[in-house]
Amino acid sequence: MLQLLHSLRWLGMLFQAAEILSKEGISAEVINLRSIRPLDRAAINASVRKTNRLVTVEEGFPQHGVGAEICMSVVEDSFEYLDAPVERIAGADVPMPYAANLERLAVPQVEDIVRAAKRACYRSSSMAANA
Ligand SMILES: *[C@@H]1O[C@H](CO)[C@@H](O)[C@H](O)[C@H]1NC(C)=O
Repeated sequence: MLQLLHSLRWLGMLFQAAEILSKEGISAEVINLRSIRPLDRAAINASVRKTNRLVTVEEGFPQHGVGAEICMSVVEDSFEYLDAPVERIAGADVPMPYAANLERLAVPQVEDIVRAAKRACYRSSSMAANA
């Protein structure tokens, strides 16, 4: 499993998601790209060839985002290794709300990452709803 993150907040969320997934028998590889330019295409390529899956996680808008760029790099470098459609987790396509309860709905959460990873592994997400 390949994941992208931009800050320590995200790193924590990804490791939380990986832990939940591991309890369900799914081993997730978390990659902290640290920079989007240069983009570590070799690391992405190696991970996709190893895991045969890709889940990108970012806080920004989905359209024209980092996840889209990473996905294109995979199409160019290792498309034939993918065993499942790429999953992109991104912020909601709305202006960032000020209210904390609305912000939570606008940015990716651990359960969103778990659900996407399970989709990429063709696993039901019913257990994630209880996580
Ligand atoms: C992707 O990985 C394979 C296997 O290690 C390597 O042969 C290939 O050159 C890599 N491609 C890129 C663009 O990194």
